[in-house]
Amino acid sequence: MEGVTAPSFRDLVLARNPPQALGGACTEFVRVVDTPVPVKVMRRHLGPHRFAQPVSLQLMGSDLDCLARSAIHAVEAGAAVVDLNFGCPAKGALRGCAGSAALKDPRQLERTVAAVARAIPGHPVTGKIRAGFDDASRVEDLARAVEAGGAWMLTIHCRTRAEAYCDEVDWTRIARAVSAVAIPVCGNGGVSSHADLERMRAQTGCAHAMVGRAELGDPWIFHGATTTEADAARFLLDYADALFATGEPSKKGVAGRLKQLLVHWSAGALCRPTRESWLHMKDPQELFDRLALVAGEGRCPRLNPLLAAKVPA
Ligand SMILES: Cc1cc2nc3c(=O)[nH]c(=O)nc-3n(C[C@H](O)[C@H](O)[C@H](O)COP(=O)(O)O)c2cc1C
Repeated sequence: MEGVTAPSFRDLVLARNPPQALGGACTEFVRVVDTPVPVKVMRRHLGPHRFAQPVSLQLMGSDLDCLARSAIHAVEAGAAVVDLNFGCPAKGALRGCAGSAALKDPRQLERTVAAVARAIPGHPVTGKIRAGFDDASRVEDLARAVEAGGAWMLTIHCRTRAEAYCDEVDWTRIARAVSAVAIPVCGNGGVSSHADLERMRAQTGCAHAMVGRAELGDPWIFHGATTTEADAARFLLDYADALFATGEPSKKGVAGRLKQLLVHWSAGALCRPTRESWLHMKDPQELFDRLALVAGEGRCPRLNPLLAAKVPA
């Protein structure tokens, strides 16, 4: 997920969830405009660590030649899977005819998948769509377009572009996609517990499920383990460490990234009943100190002292 699931976060989640609970992960989208994205940028998105679970690298663009050449670079950088984003609703993506813009034209969507699949024969290519642009009337056409282009798996976020990230979800659209194609379908949208996952499987027949925002608030969600408040605070401190280690320049920046998670946080009852009191903390050091206190770390911050000394406030 853009701006959140960089390796610094993703690796902490992968490390906490065994392969039988979490089958794989995906990078945030890598925007491809008018030049192929270099291998070193792909490596940065994939991160230094490799886990048992595959990490797919997601590309988003509309220039078929650049996408194809970027896919070759993604494989060179070690991507287990190349995923194509046909769901991003952002205006910037639409202006470049990328992301959810492709939902208006299933033929173009198919050509895009085919161009990338041809460029990396033998390597899995997957496509992630929404249920439609303005409405879900063509969900079968869109699913078939991804399959006809040569994708190994289809992920469908059941909301349309017009529905953005609304609370309601209509999983019958996932069931329609499942019926339309022979490739495995990964359902997405509104899964925030194991019970949701079972319901989605039962109601739609999808082979896999993708969890979006709920994971931001509970990194153990796949495992299903109950977490203590101290574990939750330790996760956030580990995340702060990882952000500093990857060059995040300021304590304020790191605190901002922690708050991005705290907005969604549900694990370990850390935010109950005081989510606002975390989000309103102005002083980053105060936030780190409070987390260290809850984590029972005994000293604040838990950041590498040498690194912390170099980090501006
Ligand atoms: C902040 C944010 C960033 C996202 N970035 C991406 C992205 O880079 N690629 C992608 O395919 N989907 C992205 N999504 C969409 C999610 O992957 C997912 O499809 C959506 O949140 C619905 O799932 P959920 O109801 O489980 O959250 C993003 C969503 C959010 C809220």
